[in-house]
Amino acid sequence: MNILLIGSGGREHALAWKIAQSPRTSTLFVAPGNAGICEEAECVSLDVSDHVVVIDFCKRNDVRLVSVGPEAPLVAGLADALAEEDIAVFGPRREAARLEGSKSFTKDICRRHGIPTADYAVFEDADSALAYLREKGAPIVVKADGLAAGKGVIVATDMETAESAIRDIFGGAFGVAGARVVLEEMLVGEEASFFAVCDGRTALPLATAQDHKRAFDGDKGPNTGGMGAYSPAPVMTGEMCDRVMEQIILPTMKAMEEIGCPFTGVLYAGLMITDTGPQLIEYNVRFGDPEC
Ligand code: AMP
Ligand code: GLY
Repeated sequence: MNILLIGSGGREHALAWKIAQSPRTSTLFVAPGNAGICEEAECVSLDVSDHVVVIDFCKRNDVRLVSVGPEAPLVAGLADALAEEDIAVFGPRREAARLEGSKSFTKDICRRHGIPTADYAVFEDADSALAYLREKGAPIVVKADGLAAGKGVIVATDMETAESAIRDIFGGAFGVAGARVVLEEMLVGEEASFFAVCDGRTALPLATAQDHKRAFDGDKGPNTGGMGAYSPAPVMTGEMCDRVMEQIILPTMKAMEEIGCPFTGVLYAGLMITDTGPQLIEYNVRFGDPEC
């Protein structure tokens, strides 16, 4: 079978390396790929934001399966466009990708289904966000609602930082991703990542990891999309993994099925392991990079 993999990171290099080993793979294309990936597969230059271009490439090259590495094409609905053309795709549809594409969407699912997560409120203008901030005080976490390449979260330990984060986001620092702001309680504990493969109804746990998010030595810099990672995460014991499946992953799968957008692909839960147990910080709808 001819396969097309979308992406250009270390994550896609790992996926390409493994997919290329399958006896069922005929030709593996990667768009756009990178210098390392070109040693495993045929790199092609495609504008993946143009779904017609991707579909046309698949038809001309007899591609029967597309695997999507990063979140942006998923949130933009590439999986929907491919599925409409009967091309199999690994990765969620647009409506299901909202689990990563909108923090308020995920928080509302958690609230409705009793999934443990930090207490929060959602705002569409700076004045009401600032009023809530004055009521709650610092520390507090300020988040742009939409995709911001891992940079749209400000953990504010004082009021000044929180206020300027709110003003910056509503001022357009993250473009449309900041049309809404989520303010949430700061959780204390140890962070871990948990990955599961999902078929729309159920989920299989894959592995755990811990990543290094802050720039600069001694974790002194701002949060980044990720500086590195290791696996497994020692805090994720077998018992903790069972709790995460029962309290977080499986209720999310059920909730998504109930609202008519079953989740398929990799569900990546960012967790805080607190004294009272696991809390969901956020979802990603793909493998981590570099965790993969
Ligand atoms: P995210 O972009 O949602 O992964 O958030 C980036 C990072 O911000 C997380 O990995 C955490 O380190 C931190 N963070 C986000 N939400 C919270 C929270 N409610 N409490 C404490 N830290 C948080
Ligand atoms: N390593 C963090 C991420 O993939 O979001």
